Amino acid sequence: MYRILAIDDTSFFLRVLEDILSEYFEVFTTVSGEIAFRYMEQLKPDLILLDLAMPKVDGWQTMRQLKMRPDCSDIPIIFITSQTDKAIEAECLKQGAYDFITKPVSKEVLLSRVKKALEVKRYSEELKIKLEQKTKELEEVSLASISAMTALIDARDSYTKGHSKRVARYSVLIAENMNWSKEEIRRLYDIAMLHDVGKVGVPDKILLKTTPLTPLEMAVMKSHTVMGAEILKDITTFRDLELGARYHHERFDGKGYPDGLFGTEIPLLARIICVADSFDAMSSNRCYRPRLNPAQIRKELLRGSGKQFDPEVVWAFLKTWEVLPLIRKEMQRQV
Ligand SMILES: [Fe+2]
Repeated sequence: MYRILAIDDTSFFLRVLEDILSEYFEVFTTVSGEIAFRYMEQLKPDLILLDLAMPKVDGWQTMRQLKMRPDCSDIPIIFITSQTDKAIEAECLKQGAYDFITKPVSKEVLLSRVKKALEVKRYSEELKIKLEQKTKELEEVSLASISAMTALIDARDSYTKGHSKRVARYSVLIAENMNWSKEEIRRLYDIAMLHDVGKVGVPDKILLKTTPLTPLEMAVMKSHTVMGAEILKDITTFRDLELGARYHHERFDGKGYPDGLFGTEIPLLARIICVADSFDAMSSNRCYRPRLNPAQIRKELLRGSGKQFDPEVVWAFLKTWEVLPLIRKEMQRQV
């Protein structure tokens, strides 16, 4: 049953409204906007009937305050007033009122206008839900395409095949050890999967170069962070997606790129991806060096703790040290 809140300083008129409406709706009444504000969270009305001339806080002020509250801004407001001035009616509608009814009010007119307002509200809510669903579906498709793109990027270089998936898996291990919620961990997996998506804009001759990069080539290579964030920033239903791409090469000591953020200025998810990314790089063969053994990697991570890496993240990662070789083997089989 729809809930209607009537605000009017005349108790007699509130009783009249209650008599007319309570057959069809759940009706709540109050003699002032101030009292209504206090109970709005519990009441959650679907529609508000509002008197214009009231002492202290009048109808204008009440409507303005209601429209400013995020939990009330969508509730349709119908003014019921003795005012017959057309200019005032026009102003009420302009300020955001849904309708304007002049006292004395007939039962038929009131019921029909209230029902119409509620019908419009229901339609617009249904439309909003459908639109949100469609947007989500569309964004999921984009996400899947971007993930496929990442797999292709990893495959461009035989040394980095399966890199994004492994980084995502290691990031999850770290987050589990930092007691993240299941939902946050699921999000982190997708964010980590896409951390290197900006490499799509790095030419093969730089990405696959086996000799040291020139300063210009290095700048292009580093720009994959900013390019990745640019690609991902428009996917708005997926919060923080671009943060992993942009900040995974920042360093805890502030000497990283692209923004030189320091310590906890770097989003935690990026500090996690950074450790996972470095671990995968150290445990993979490269054209310019063979992979490091577990003892060497452990030493490197500890040496970088507080410099390149967040010490808490390194600590959380080292807690899983024993299972890491097994996970790595299992993931290499999947590639
Ligand atoms: Fe990267």
